[in-house]
Amino acid sequence: MDLNRNQLSQIFTPHYVADFMVRNIKNRYLSIHNELDIEEIKVLEPCVGKGIFLKYLLREGFTNITGYEVDQSLKTPLLEKYPKVKLVFGNFLGSNTNEKFDIVIGNPPYLGQNYNAPIFQELVAMYPICKKYFAGNMDLFYFFIHLGIEKLRPGGLLSFITTNYWLTKSKKTGIKYLKPHIVNDCFMLQYIDLSKITIFQDAKGQHNCIFILQKKYENEKNKNFDKKIEVIQFNLSNKHCEGNFLEQTFMDILNNQKSTHLLKYNSAISNKDLPKNDGWILLYPLEVKHYVDTIEKYCRFNGKVSYLNDFFIIRNGLILIKDEIFILKENENIKIVETEMYIKINNTFVKLNNEEKKRLKKIYKSRAIKPFSFDKSDFIGYLIFLSKNELRTEKAMERNKYLNQKYPNLTAYLNQYKKELVKILKNAKENINDIYFPRRGSLITHYNIKHKRKLVNLEPYYERGAKIFFSYISNSNVFGYTNDSYYATSDTYFLWLNEGKNNFDYLFLLAYLNSKIVNFLFKAKNITIKRSKTKLEEEIPIPNTSLFRSPYELELINLIRDITLNLTQNIVSVNIIKLNKLKELNPDIYSRIQNESNPKRIIDICFLKLFDVDEKLIDNLAKKYYLMR
Ligand SMILES: C[S@@+](CC[C@H](N)C(=O)[O-])C[C@H]1O[C@@H](n2cnc3c(N)ncnc32)[C@H](O)[C@@H]1O
Repeated sequence: MDLNRNQLSQIFTPHYVADFMVRNIKNRYLSIHNELDIEEIKVLEPCVGKGIFLKYLLREGFTNITGYEVDQSLKTPLLEKYPKVKLVFGNFLGSNTNEKFDIVIGNPPYLGQNYNAPIFQELVAMYPICKKYFAGNMDLFYFFIHLGIEKLRPGGLLSFITTNYWLTKSKKTGIKYLKPHIVNDCFMLQYIDLSKITIFQDAKGQHNCIFILQKKYENEKNKNFDKKIEVIQFNLSNKHCEGNFLEQTFMDILNNQKSTHLLKYNSAISNKDLPKNDGWILLYPLEVKHYVDTIEKYCRFNGKVSYLNDFFIIRNGLILIKDEIFILKENENIKIVETEMYIKINNTFVKLNNEEKKRLKKIYKSRAIKPFSFDKSDFIGYLIFLSKNELRTEKAMERNKYLNQKYPNLTAYLNQYKKELVKILKNAKENINDIYFPRRGSLITHYNIKHKRKLVNLEPYYERGAKIFFSYISNSNVFGYTNDSYYATSDTYFLWLNEGKNNFDYLFLLAYLNSKIVNFLFKAKNITIKRSKTKLEEEIPIPNTSLFRSPYELELINLIRDITLNLTQNIVSVNIIKLNKLKELNPDIYSRIQNESNPKRIIDICFLKLFDVDEKLIDNLAKKYYLMR
């Protein structure tokens, strides 16, 4: 297989990082094994490149070193420079698993499977290790971790520098075999987070990490065996990284030197907590966990903490066959004159009948979402929203005929683009007769509590249901709300209440989701919304209001609801009568609230009080650990 420089991932490690990693693993190895004779320690560098790790391994006194490099053009210089290293010029993934090592160290090649499927196919066909551990969406360096682990002796250590995305990934995204393999066979001893700094100048924007794994002895595979995970965070920004500043900070780690740019702590997650199929949140200091636990104490239903997905299904907004056709833009393909609307068909504007006008809905993108509401004026156009539900029939032709009669101009407009619409549906293997409807998000199949499948029409929900929604890309907790008509494109996520959870307190939930408490949870749990709702569904706990019982707590909840209702209607005043009651019940909190003019701030104060959380302390934690998140 002939691979180019990109496919070989020839991005070489800066000398100070290799120097650090070698000394770091040497210290660790010697502290665990008390091995006196360093020459006995058998070391493997699986992807040598120009040999930077070899240089520092030799300098630290290691002599029993084996290195692999697939790129034959590096052969001559490497042989000249490192005559004492056992160098193999071939594919590491084809190497023998029976040969064992005490230390494996390096910077394996990063290459996503998604865009390089043929390379992975070839590897799977050629090497048993690749066949055994292949998973869609994986990265090439996963194979290097797998084989690295297989080639370690029990008690041996592996340290790699890689991208850090695999840590937070769950089963569906390529780590299907990687995490179970690590959890079954290794302990994670150390995790160094480099996400705030640029290590590889040729790959700016890449987020990296260094980790040390230790292979378990047979008796350690028993579940009761646990080890702590040491976390080191580089808490500085790239602007600090000029000159030898980074170099110095790496050395501070080795010298156990206190540095304002380093955070060192044991993760609140230890090895026994690492899930095999889910994200690992390692940057989780105990003092942060303490506050998460404090908050979650008030989110228990029947003794168990409930999360968003216990109450809600989160759904995308509408997916259309083609936005440009279905969303009409004023003065382009629609004209509005007083109460009349005209649609452009064959270059002439034709007047819509009253029924047709009702089928045009203002449609929004996620940019219109604001905390507690949305910007009504920021709609992107008028959506043609016809529903399959209008005529209950399985026969598409019959339905279309009915719609043609009832909505002659809207259907005539869409028929102008029939060829294009049919083509898109055909490619997506969907019914080619359904050219009048949104592809998804208007009629949904839903399973009720008895697991019976039923078809639900979402139009009443979009029209007048209580809706909480948020953007599909965001790293802060901004949740919009309305019970007015609100139709949105698929870059908006809607909370859709699970069957059987009627009478849900939407206003209280909305206030909570937009509050400082949830903002803290976003940071503590490293929640960002990036075209995926899973983290939010699984990590945001839902408060149980029945756990707040004292009269002043009930008053706080009432106040939160009141202010929230106002905010949803863009009113920013506070009900004084409610405050008077609070004055009697809890003068202390009353005086704090009374001095605030910002309603969102009052909501925050109420929540902090309800959850028994000291604001200054969580502010300090956020500053200390999550400076730039
Ligand atoms: C990211 S570079 C790192 C090189 C070196 N370890 C360093 O840190 O500077 C990865 C190296 O692995 C080599 N490589 C890629 N696939 C390989 C394979 N299957 N077996 C051995 N080497 C491989 C590439 O040619 C490249 O030199």
